[in-house]
Amino acid sequence: PPPLHSSSSSLPNSSSDAAKQPFIIGVSGGTASGKTTVCDMIIQQLHDHRVVLVNQDSFYRGLTPEESKIVHEYNFDHPDAFDTEELLECVEKLKLGQSVHVPIYDFVTHRKSTDSFRQVNVSDVIILEGILVFHDQRVRNLMNMKIFVDTDADVRLARRIRRDTVERGRDINSVLEQYAKFVKPAFDDFILPSKKFADVIIPRGGDNHVAIDLIVQHIRTKLGQHELCKIYPNVYVIQSTFQI
Ligand code: ADP
Ligand code: C5P
Repeated sequence: PPPLHSSSSSLPNSSSDAAKQPFIIGVSGGTASGKTTVCDMIIQQLHDHRVVLVNQDSFYRGLTPEESKIVHEYNFDHPDAFDTEELLECVEKLKLGQSVHVPIYDFVTHRKSTDSFRQVNVSDVIILEGILVFHDQRVRNLMNMKIFVDTDADVRLARRIRRDTVERGRDINSVLEQYAKFVKPAFDDFILPSKKFADVIIPRGGDNHVAIDLIVQHIRTKLGQHELCKIYPNVYVIQSTFQI
């Protein structure tokens, strides 16, 4: 079909670049708020699209042997615990439609695997999930949609105790100590203040089916408009109205 508006080299993004870019969703919230659960529900509903989940956890810095000796004094909830430069590079590449190698992190040994990684391929939707994914402005700016999962602290602590003792090799005392010393203060200092960047706040996490349905509907609409950009690559009127 003929273009509705002639193309111009002065326009910032070429239409083909825009058409290639995946829709990037950031999902943040406190520990055990249900971030992963919400992401899984979104992915399930978008089964007819290519959707990948990238966890900020994969970008934890591995502990040095010295740090490993005093692991109970290590603050895993501080922004410095993550290799944000590596995370940023990874999301930038995904945004450009390139595949990436994501590290594999072990919560029991607090280390990254040295001989394996997860390959993440080009997708329609990239979901970036983690307690501090809204902390760095550069990472935030790559997101097309930001979701904050808001679950009461007592519910989160109860879930965290169960999860960390069953899945992450911890005992209950160490979970409670870590929560009081690092997890709760970091939530107050870094995670809660980043809630203001969210486009959507989901109370009660995965129990909130209405919120998840609405989010999925919005993503579907955006992906549909994306298809339009691909069909009419020179139609800047359409592209600038609908660009995601
Ligand atoms: P996050 O990714 O925010 O840490 P998860 O989605 O992994 O949270 O949930 C943390 C724990 O709580 C998991 O063991 C999960 O099975 C459980 N959980 C999550 N959402 C619910 C829910 N709505 N009801 C009951 N348990 C839940
Ligand atoms: O899955 P969730 O969002 O709860 O993961 C983040 C939490 O994992 C942080 O609150 C941090 O305290 C915890 N963590 C840990 N041990 C590690 C790395 C992270 O307890 N080695």
